[in-house]
Amino acid sequence: MNEKLKEIQAKALKKIDDARGMDSLNEVRVAVLGKKGELTALLKGMKDVSAEDRPKIGQMVNDARAQIENRLQEARAAIEREEMERRLAEETIDVTLPARREKRGHRHPNSIALEEVERIFIGMGYEVVEGPEVEYDYYNFEALNIPANHPAKDEQDTFFINKDILLRTQTSSVQVHQMEQGRLPIRMIAPGRVFRSDEVDATHSPSFHQIEGMVIDKDITFSDLKGTLAQFAKEMFGEDTKVKFRPHHFPFTEPSAEVDISCFKCKGKGCRFCKGEGWIEILGCGQVHPRVLKMSGIDPDEYTGFAFGLGLERITLFKYEIDDMRLLYDNDDRFLRQF
Ligand code: DAH
Repeated sequence: MNEKLKEIQAKALKKIDDARGMDSLNEVRVAVLGKKGELTALLKGMKDVSAEDRPKIGQMVNDARAQIENRLQEARAAIEREEMERRLAEETIDVTLPARREKRGHRHPNSIALEEVERIFIGMGYEVVEGPEVEYDYYNFEALNIPANHPAKDEQDTFFINKDILLRTQTSSVQVHQMEQGRLPIRMIAPGRVFRSDEVDATHSPSFHQIEGMVIDKDITFSDLKGTLAQFAKEMFGEDTKVKFRPHHFPFTEPSAEVDISCFKCKGKGCRFCKGEGWIEILGCGQVHPRVLKMSGIDPDEYTGFAFGLGLERITLFKYEIDDMRLLYDNDDRFLRQF
């Protein structure tokens, strides 16, 4: 019996030492100490042991059991320790790794260009104002000397909401609101969204932005307009930018002109950018038509003024050398983050 016990104990301890993981430890435990385990079986044989040997043998069995259990306990603790160490190693955070770059929003190139235009005109003493996008026919057309049957009305294909209400086709409507307030002199720019029923392509969109400008005061002449726009062009596109005034027609100004600037890319020689012209058209302007002044309650014998209107997208496209207007509306992050 003694021999047998020693053998079981030695075998069990070896198995425990060899065990890999909790599962195999459990198997050892069941095989030795379980109900049908080897040691349990041996204990059952105690009844055959003589009464005088029983206490001694009993003590030996108990010692063996205690030893095996101790060893099991140690082995479990070792496995748990290993597991903990493995997890600690695996889950370490390397604080020296570079941080992931935070994604920053970018200002839209239209906004950057608009802020630049605003900065320039504010510097010349202008006020920045706004007007409604949903507008009465009166403000968008009639008060600007564009009567119902005027061909200009067809040129600016209009989204009508009903007979009298529409989406403004031009920021020139803000001129009228401003004049109606009766506070003179006026020095304002009015940036905003305008709408025309155009198909989308590289140079057109049913919704785009204009910046309107207007000055009304005593003794305002066409030279004031020329000087103002020449100064604006220099600040916006570079000191050596030249302006050219071409006679044109707008119903709300007389005389009227379209303004070209010398191509800042080729300096007037002609390039892909200015389509070989050397000049780029940027705005329409003129002296406010006396009839327009009168309709808004301003006496044309006392006051004169000039007005101009420029397309913001056009300026943005030139300034940042973008060749497709649609890029300005897609809001693709890969495009916007370049600004
Ligand atoms: N409103 C005109 C347009 O949309 C642009 C314009 C031309 C505005 C002449 C003006 C101006 O103020 O004087 O085509």
